[in-house]
Amino acid sequence: MARNSLKRYLPTSLLGRAALILLFPIVLVEIIVGIAFIQRHFEQVTDQMSEGIALEIIFMKNELEKHIEGGVNPNDLKKLIYELGNQFGYTAKYDHNLELTLIDDVSFYDVSGKTFVHNLNEKLGSISAFDLTNPRIVNIQTLVSSGRLDLMISRKRISASNPHQLLVLMILATLLLVLFSLIILKNQIRPIGKLAKAAEAFGKGQFVEFKPGGSDEVRRAGFAFLAMRARIERQIKQRTQMLSGVSHDLRTPLTRLKLALALQKESQEVSDMLDDVDSMGAMLDEFLEFSKVSKKEVTKEIVLVDFLDRLVKKNKKHFDNIHLEITSPLEKEFTMEVRENALRRGIQNIIDNAMTFGDKVNVIARKDSNYTVLQIEDNGPGIHEGNYELALRPFSRLDEARNQNSHSGVGLGLSISTDIVRNHGGKLSLHRSEKLGGLGVSIRIPI
Ligand SMILES: Nc1ncnc2c1ncn2[C@@H]1O[C@H](COP(=O)(O)OP(=O)(O)OP(=O)(O)O)[C@@H](O)[C@H]1O
Ligand SMILES: [Mg+2]
Repeated sequence: MARNSLKRYLPTSLLGRAALILLFPIVLVEIIVGIAFIQRHFEQVTDQMSEGIALEIIFMKNELEKHIEGGVNPNDLKKLIYELGNQFGYTAKYDHNLELTLIDDVSFYDVSGKTFVHNLNEKLGSISAFDLTNPRIVNIQTLVSSGRLDLMISRKRISASNPHQLLVLMILATLLLVLFSLIILKNQIRPIGKLAKAAEAFGKGQFVEFKPGGSDEVRRAGFAFLAMRARIERQIKQRTQMLSGVSHDLRTPLTRLKLALALQKESQEVSDMLDDVDSMGAMLDEFLEFSKVSKKEVTKEIVLVDFLDRLVKKNKKHFDNIHLEITSPLEKEFTMEVRENALRRGIQNIIDNAMTFGDKVNVIARKDSNYTVLQIEDNGPGIHEGNYELALRPFSRLDEARNQNSHSGVGLGLSISTDIVRNHGGKLSLHRSEKLGGLGVSIRIPI
């Protein structure tokens, strides 16, 4: 639990994580060292400064005691102390009174002030009081044998001035360093982002220009990706070329065979053979069509709702009971980057099946987080759950006896659709339609 909640606040991008791993310790160390150093520095400086002040005050007190013993009258004492104070830069006052009117007062955050009070108490040895609440002036009272000495000293004399300068410098330097590191890090990470984009696009069947760059490891991964992409593309090309070549070449002898059969005397055998030749011809047509689809079609932006609307309207011409349902939050003007012809063919295959097996068809479009989901449902007999995988394989026709007359496909439709959806980086799956009871085919394509 704790790990998960911590994870939520940590950056997810590589740049963020690298920056955290690299910069966090540096900044932390700098803060700790900075604070420790500043504190020590202040303590030392304050120590030395307060020692100087203590010596001056002791000197003044000794002078005072000497004159008191010598019987100098209080008025002259006052004058003497005032002048003595002036020499040291204090405002000094002698008072006949033997009571302290000040109460010790130092702010809790005033570290140098506390050190000052501690040092002076130790060194003066007599009863004294210190008020350091004024940021500019320090008030001190200390008792002598026949009265009280009041001193006002500039705050500057007890602690190092402008302590923030060092801090400001440190923060500025840190910020500058962090910025510099971030720029370098970003440059190092950019090639990884590019590789991820190219791989993502390739997964969706798109081609993105990519040139490997960056550090050794990233460059190697980039070249490996390029080699892999080229190999896969070569394989697909070879496969479709072979398929279309074979299909094309087989058509001529098949036509000859058909012609020869047509010239034969009519009999049950001959008409069965003709049927077979016809279905072989249909298969070859499918193959040719299949290899055409596999050929690279460039992607383009389509308005999904319009695209589906056109497709459904076209089918409505010969199948009345087909409906399009758009579910929010899919907006009317929502666009997608797709291979339009291929996607149309992929969906049409599924609609063809639905119209063959059912007499009511629903096409539903919706958005599901980062996916566009298209669902084609019918009220036909559906497919048994155990046969879903089989139905998606090429050349698989389920339950042939059931639809021998009405349905004469070769079993390629669904596998072609699966291929097309996969080429868009998506996934095609089968389920039972909740609403209509027949087969439901759902297509999920990442946005
Ligand atoms: N909507 C559906 N309802 C019931 N069964 C279906 C449905 N769609 C497909 N099937 C079953 O899945 C099999 C495979 O379908 P697929 O579309 O791949 O091939 P086909 O329709 O037989 O031939 P093709 O589409 O190539 O003309 C079909 O033969 C059929 O048995
Ligand atoms: Mg079909």
